[in-house]
Amino acid sequence: MLISIIVAMDEKGGIGIGDRLPWHLPDDLKYFKNTTMGHHLIMGRRTFESLAQPLPGRVNIVLTRDPAYTAVGDVLVAHSLGKALAQAQRRGEREAFIGGGAAIYRQSLPLAHRLYVTLVHAQTEADVFFPQINPNNWIEQRSSHHPADRNHPFPFTTKLLRREA
Ligand SMILES: NC(=O)c1ccc[n+]([C@@H]2O[C@H](COP(=O)([O-])OP(=O)(O)OC[C@H]3O[C@@H](n4cnc5c(N)ncnc54)[C@H](OP(=O)(O)O)[C@@H]3O)[C@@H](O)[C@H]2O)c1
Repeated sequence: MLISIIVAMDEKGGIGIGDRLPWHLPDDLKYFKNTTMGHHLIMGRRTFESLAQPLPGRVNIVLTRDPAYTAVGDVLVAHSLGKALAQAQRRGEREAFIGGGAAIYRQSLPLAHRLYVTLVHAQTEADVFFPQINPNNWIEQRSSHHPADRNHPFPFTTKLLRREA
């Protein structure tokens, strides 16, 4: 099973302000939706609770250390990253997605085979950061630029990076 991280970050690696994203980029949200649709999506408890509802069309797996945690709806709960990944694999997943936040990205970066990175060409007030990526470990497979426009205050580039074998 492939392990893929999906993240949007600004020029300083910023990914969040408090419990929210520092930007609203509707076409990047569509890209996130299309990319993760039908897959297992593993999220930290804080990121999961910042959503209005579990993300439809995906198997949401929430990571928490709280043994009593229950989530309503069609959601799986796991108490370690390894257990979340094992759950996805047991259920026949071929590409599991890690959807943040920072704590989960830090733990999963050493395990990831692919990075779906949206680089937001801006410096924001973010106070939550993605861990440092060593560019020597990654090969760019795909890149697509989106200009700023009426609905997108910042331009951004979506990239697919594959771990160097
Ligand atoms: N830009 C992006 O693409 C993107 C994507 C997602 C999130 N974000 C941002 O990231 C920020 C949230 O990140 P965060 O680091 O504060 O929180 P987080 O990673 O979403 O969640 C952290 C929680 O996950 C649980 N957890 C962490 N490691 C675990 C482990 N090994 N085993 C079991 N449970 C574990 C713990 O839950 P318990 O406390 O319940 O034990 C921990 O408090 C927000 O600003 C959000 O907007 C950005």
